[in-house]
Amino acid sequence: MTDQEKYDNIFKANKEWIEKNKKDNPKLFDLLAAEQHPEFLYIGCSDSRVHPNQIMGLKPGEVFIHRNIANMVNSTDLNALSVINYAVETLKVKFIIICGHYECGGVRAAMEHKDFGMLNPWLCSIRDVYNLHKLELNAISDKEQRYRRLIEINTYEQCRNVMKLAEVQRSYYNNGYPKVAGWVFDIKDAKLHDLNFDFVGELEQIKEVYDITGE
Ligand code: CO
Repeated sequence: MTDQEKYDNIFKANKEWIEKNKKDNPKLFDLLAAEQHPEFLYIGCSDSRVHPNQIMGLKPGEVFIHRNIANMVNSTDLNALSVINYAVETLKVKFIIICGHYECGGVRAAMEHKDFGMLNPWLCSIRDVYNLHKLELNAISDKEQRYRRLIEINTYEQCRNVMKLAEVQRSYYNNGYPKVAGWVFDIKDAKLHDLNFDFVGELEQIKEVYDITGE
């Protein structure tokens, strides 16, 4: 297949996808056009092998999505912060999920001592996570194991970053949601692993410095 044929094929596949969905639920697209009520906000990596709807078994309309390299939530990233703000304040999602994945190229790059040009500032946020946890990470002698652990720790740290946001704290104190969860997807066997992020315990811990609701 030529590149152009691959491109053209997408429109053919789109028609088939529409037909399949209409067969399952003739009103689906009318309902979706009217409104969205996703219960989940998913923040994951842009990696083409990790597709949120597919790995979670969710249909269109069921998950609000933000993706970037290595599933980061940086406190100056207007894009990620706007998505979270809208998801919490307007959509009133019940769960915010940070989903990392093993074999993450972004995390691997951040472990290399190399100049990645304009990617450096982004990778620096991942290096900062390494730096924060370097005692634990440096104690792991096997490089692959250390890499896997950094992926888990980075996911954890992004969960914490979500909890530093005022709207997340305020909504949780007032409504009991959203809860924040950390997952790691394993590309090799397609399994989702729940890191069992201790949301309530972590909130207690970070409150001392990061509470900004005054509640
Ligand atoms: Co990745």
